[in-house]
Amino acid sequence: MKDFSYYAPTEVVFGKESEEQVARLVKKYGGTKVLVHYGGQSAIRSGLLVKICNLLQEAGIEYVKLGGVVPNPRLSLAQKGIELCRQEGIDFILAVGGGSVIDSCKCIAYGVPYEGNVWDFYLGKAKATAMLPLAAVLTIPAAGSEMSESSVITNEEGDVKLGYSNNLSRPKFAIMNPCRTFTLPPYQIAAGVTDMMMHTMERYFTKDDDMDLTTDLAEAMLRSMKNAVFAVLKNPEDYRYRAQIMWGGSLMHNGLTGCGVEEDWSTHQLEHELSGMFDVTHGAGLAAMWPSWARYVMHENLSRFVRFAVNVMDVPNDFTDPEGTALKGIEAMERFYHAIGMPINIKELIGRDITDAEIKEMTRKCSRDYQRTCGGLKALKAEDMQAIYQMARG
Ligand code: NZQ
Ligand code: ZN
Repeated sequence: MKDFSYYAPTEVVFGKESEEQVARLVKKYGGTKVLVHYGGQSAIRSGLLVKICNLLQEAGIEYVKLGGVVPNPRLSLAQKGIELCRQEGIDFILAVGGGSVIDSCKCIAYGVPYEGNVWDFYLGKAKATAMLPLAAVLTIPAAGSEMSESSVITNEEGDVKLGYSNNLSRPKFAIMNPCRTFTLPPYQIAAGVTDMMMHTMERYFTKDDDMDLTTDLAEAMLRSMKNAVFAVLKNPEDYRYRAQIMWGGSLMHNGLTGCGVEEDWSTHQLEHELSGMFDVTHGAGLAAMWPSWARYVMHENLSRFVRFAVNVMDVPNDFTDPEGTALKGIEAMERFYHAIGMPINIKELIGRDITDAEIKEMTRKCSRDYQRTCGGLKALKAEDMQAIYQMARG
């Protein structure tokens, strides 16, 4: 079993009307002047943004608003946010939205006390040692950024999407009211559940077979999400299952399902090039990549793929044919993706054939100019990445 450090400092306030507590929580964590950061329309349409601002105002907390975060959040808006925070003397950042808004907040929070260009952190040229405190009022369960140490930002110059992880960026608190997710369109529900399941699958497919507790927890969470998604697609106002998905999204990416094992984030790395280049929804991009990655690497630990097939995807175990059982598990996952409206290859994702030149460019970017490998179960070299993109073209 691998040694590990588990750090999940975020205070979670969960349930109906939980946003009523926002001002108390901002004060508790030292905020006196807040940047309220949000996305396009959903938080305005639902009235959540006005409600949050009113609650802050009533409690005597000053705030400034900055909207316009788009999925695959852009560096340019974060840079605007950094300037705004400096001009206004902001000491706390509040995200009202999903992973994209929270990640944009994290980028702003890193940038305010930093003298250089905040993109340095994402390029790996600098390590943040200070940042503004931040918190989230979550409106879409998916990315898990409300408890994670990561943020993923797209630099429009070159369409490069890069992540930066630092424990400093874990939100101080996360307010989660499942009723606020009732308005999510089916595509976002499905992409969100795909993403959260992948956060656990990227930790589950490992060479380390000796951490049964982590493996059992992972399988239970994957089964719960797989069942819950159908209930909410059928009935968007199903509180019971909305709530389980919302909590699942946080638990599946706060580190719990990676304790004691080596992780493998290849599917995410391969997908980031797809969303960087084609601006697709992250969860849908993962569904388009995972089956090809799985077929490419499954022999690195076949028994894990058999276990997944049997314990998560309900495939009968053919003890005489482990490879066949593993493949049936991958096929069952593809049927699951189709059943919830997700693609299983790049053609289905972007609606056309991808070109050889585009595959070459994604390979170059994913391998950082042929300089890095990625993945723990199998360390993918540039030629492996290219082969997986080819398999996934559809
Ligand atoms: O902008 P608005 O109008 O709010 O619309 C959003 C957006 O179009 C909409 N939405 C959100 N809440 C809603 C709603 N629509 C109706 N009702 C509501 N209650 O949903 C759309 C998607 O929102 P977004 O925040 O982009 O989704 P998600 O949470 O999936 O975040 C995706 C981003 O997170 C990154 C991804 O790469 C992607 O950029 N990730 C961040 C991670 C992290 N920080 O730990 C890990 C993940 O692996 C992921 O890479
Ligand atoms: Zn993800």
